[in-house]
Amino acid sequence: MCEAVLLADEARYCSFGDTVHYSDPKIFTRCEGSYLYDGEGTPFLDLQMWYSAVNFGYANPRLNAVLKQQADTLPQVASQYLHPTKIELAKMIAQDAKKKWGHDGRIHFNVGGSQSIDDSLKLVRNAKGKNLMFAFEGGYHGRTLGASAITSSYRYRRRYGHFGDRAYFIPFPYHFRGPKGMSKEEYGEHCLQQFERLFESEYNGVWDPKAGQSEYAAFYVEPIQGTGGYIIPPPNFFKGLKRVLDKYGILFVVDEIQMGFYRTGKLWSIEHFGVTPDVLVFGKALTNGLNPLAGLWAREELINPQVFPPGSTHSTFASNPFGTAVGLETMRMLAESDYESMVMGKGELFLAGLCDLQKRHPEIGDVDGLGLALRAEICEADGFTPNKQLLDKMADIGLKGGLEHKGKRMGLVLDVGGYHKNVITFAPSLHILEEEIELAMVLLDQLITRARRG
Ligand SMILES: Cc1ncc(COP(=O)(O)O)c(C=O)c1O
Repeated sequence: MCEAVLLADEARYCSFGDTVHYSDPKIFTRCEGSYLYDGEGTPFLDLQMWYSAVNFGYANPRLNAVLKQQADTLPQVASQYLHPTKIELAKMIAQDAKKKWGHDGRIHFNVGGSQSIDDSLKLVRNAKGKNLMFAFEGGYHGRTLGASAITSSYRYRRRYGHFGDRAYFIPFPYHFRGPKGMSKEEYGEHCLQQFERLFESEYNGVWDPKAGQSEYAAFYVEPIQGTGGYIIPPPNFFKGLKRVLDKYGILFVVDEIQMGFYRTGKLWSIEHFGVTPDVLVFGKALTNGLNPLAGLWAREELINPQVFPPGSTHSTFASNPFGTAVGLETMRMLAESDYESMVMGKGELFLAGLCDLQKRHPEIGDVDGLGLALRAEICEADGFTPNKQLLDKMADIGLKGGLEHKGKRMGLVLDVGGYHKNVITFAPSLHILEEEIELAMVLLDQLITRARRG
């Protein structure tokens, strides 16, 4: 069927309630490595890799082979029964956590990030007997009703009535847009002091000093904010936060759904900050965007069979064998080579390219990165005022596939994020080649020049 007919049918028969119609709908027909291809065979260099779900390259041969092999052996089995890869994968993640943090723990699988966030909310509510959480301004934890309640954006809740368990949103140390005259570290300290102030008096609304109890059960964090615009907090920030949480008996839940699996150069991005989570939620890149699988790790005291008995949570496709087989192969692949050095090296090269572009384009207000999670804020010519329109234009031009390289048509796939929707959140394949990073800079240069012209 030709593309025009497909698009007309999509407009007629598909719900617009997902994110396809944020911009002009676009159809792709093939993918490989760092590229998506449209029906005409035009390559699009992808710098967002399905929002960091495809960390190991499109159609990764090793991971695809495992999926195919699983199709020939045990493609289906009800989640009531066991299959070996579920057990092996859980063991690998739990043993890694034990080695890193010294805690015994268990894994619970589900099909998507939001569903696993909901499972983590059940664990926390069960452990604490409370249903209120702290989370950060700018935070994103998914769009089930449970995850929406702890996601900062009111836009995702507005149509669905009252959320009695809406989180208390605390400012995140977003230094570029913080108060002038403070270093990044000072601003982090300032945010922490503002948070700790809540516990100074019962009249600040969160703490009963007589009972020694907080009304809030846990603090949900993304160590690097994803949808919020790939914001990297100061290095000591989470140590400070954890100190406050420990003092007031509040659990620390880390959402690694977007930043996990070496996006930032470590298996879990929280490892950069020297603190230990009570619960860690993961998803996306575990299966490299193949059959969905997500899950959580929790400390033994929160998830042991006495406190979280059979049937506490369940979904038909949870721990599906395609997902666990690919997830296990992903973990084996990561254990076999030095992803940390590889990602940090490529990240440095990418960031240097962005710094170079920033020198030539005053509209690039801020660039930053940790591993291959990188950001560029698109602003007015003053380098500060957010310029969403310019970035929207850039993203549209990139998706039209009319850029040029060495006489060939090319496109560029970008993701737009941030508090003002003016941030390019770069999540390229961790296997991206050096020459592809150079090509990315050439195409970004063309894109911003064309978008500026109007
Ligand atoms: C940090 C974070 N948490 C949770 C989610 C929700 O995951 P899913 O879209 O798989 O439900 C996402 C998805 O983008 C995310 O980035």
